[in-house]
Amino acid sequence: MSVAPAKALRTFALNGEGVQCAFAPNKTLLEVLREDLGLTGTKHGCEMGHCGACCVLIDDRPVLACLVLAIEVNDRPIRTVEGLAKDGRLHPVQEAFAQCGAAQCGYCTPGFLMTAAAIVEQNNRLGEADIRAAIAGNLCRCTGYTKIIEAIALASDRMHEAQPGG
Ligand code: FES
Ligand code: FES
Repeated sequence: MSVAPAKALRTFALNGEGVQCAFAPNKTLLEVLREDLGLTGTKHGCEMGHCGACCVLIDDRPVLACLVLAIEVNDRPIRTVEGLAKDGRLHPVQEAFAQCGAAQCGYCTPGFLMTAAAIVEQNNRLGEADIRAAIAGNLCRCTGYTKIIEAIALASDRMHEAQPGG
């Protein structure tokens, strides 16, 4: 008779809410988000840290969820693509991606959106070189990146146009 492994119990600060979850202790954050918490916006890609499809924010910094054990994420705020829109309004990066046509198949889009949200929130107006450097770890097989870069630049301009020094 096989014995099921003991589960780990953790409370995550997920998209602004405390969420308790029991999961197999060897699971990655990507697996727990998708399989145990039902948040399938974060995508499985390579699961080796090469594609960026699984990008989420921990402490508002981009992290590859396929490389992090969920059990190690203690009391640190996690943001996923499901939490980007607030009070019924899309995040500026979501609006800009839609406006610029920056998604085709869309599989890479959640990862790009999370990387983009982090960089536009934490920096003043971004130039193309800044954006290219920031998204170097996110791969897209469809768009050729031009519209993605345009969209992130547009979101950055909009977020900072009204701010002194922005
Ligand atoms: S699935 Fe995590 S980097 Fe590819
Ligand atoms: S839009 Fe298809 S992989 Fe990026």
